[in-house]
Amino acid sequence: MTKQLFSAKFRAHTNIALIKYWGKRNKELFLPVTNSLSLTLDAFYTDTEVEFDTSLTSDVFYLDGVLQNDFHTAKVSRFLDLFRKEANRPNLFATVRSINHVPTAAGLASSASAFAALAGACNLALDLAIDTQTLSTFARQGSGSASRSLLGGFVEWHKGQGDDSASSYAEVFDDADWDLAMVFVIINRQAKKVDSRLGMEHTNETSPFYELWPREVAKDLEKIKPAIKAHDIDTVGTIAEHNAMKMHAMTIAANPSFTYWEPGSIEAMQIVRRLREEGISAYLTMDAGPNVKVLCRASEAERVKAAFVSRFGEEQIVIAKPGPNAYPLDKE
Ligand code: DP6
Repeated sequence: MTKQLFSAKFRAHTNIALIKYWGKRNKELFLPVTNSLSLTLDAFYTDTEVEFDTSLTSDVFYLDGVLQNDFHTAKVSRFLDLFRKEANRPNLFATVRSINHVPTAAGLASSASAFAALAGACNLALDLAIDTQTLSTFARQGSGSASRSLLGGFVEWHKGQGDDSASSYAEVFDDADWDLAMVFVIINRQAKKVDSRLGMEHTNETSPFYELWPREVAKDLEKIKPAIKAHDIDTVGTIAEHNAMKMHAMTIAANPSFTYWEPGSIEAMQIVRRLREEGISAYLTMDAGPNVKVLCRASEAERVKAAFVSRFGEEQIVIAKPGPNAYPLDKE
């Protein structure tokens, strides 16, 4: 029998949450405890090509040109299963080639852009015509934050109801077409010691402060949304910074305690505070790693960057602007 190929290529950008997702109520379906709200960014993205091939007997996965081992390929296969099921082709295997575009030395490989790009590519290759809202519920099952990377600008991921997967989707909240940037301060390029999946689970299970988290997130969302619509960067930044601090405070109070902060992270925080004393609107957020991301005006981003360059070096500081929706690419 002649083999048949179904292929497509997609690009998705990374996103950074201003109101964090930190805990699942359903681990199998990646259903979160709370809503979350992020900003998609142009500086970091993943290009993924998928080729479903009737002659393959198992999936093959290349990341940045390197053939991946069984462990990493199994994660991709579980994700491809969602699309095989939708297409009613349980035995149609694929070759996946994924390239992470991160500025040299950044080392910010992101599961969010990776699974969003793969979801977009699978949808197109198999001609499934899944709408973006539903596709975000697929991307979510690769990595929760990936649900938000299919869309550009400010994106809200709704927690949804009960065990209803379809109700936990992402949608655009604001196009972010205003004077806004995020400056990345790359503290450390090593892989994180406690990945976000384990970190949120351990926090959820052992931190006495976790029970406060859903209420705090609800309050923060209620306050940040009108501030985003009003383009009020100081209120947006103040709420986002406080939300991140509350997330990291929960990890310190987990048992055993852990933190993603490194000495360099704290130095970067001090620089952010100094910038504010100088009248610059600069607010920080941090995720499951030591890097510090600084929300500021695009028109002041170079000044913000300069404040970090002398301590961390030019190549460790990257200015990002709001990024677009995920989109298809021509195949090579
Ligand atoms: C701190 O989406 O990486 O970046 O769903 O287990 O794959 P899994 O977790 P992931 O967690 C992201 C955590 C965060 C906050 C956020 O992006 O909202």
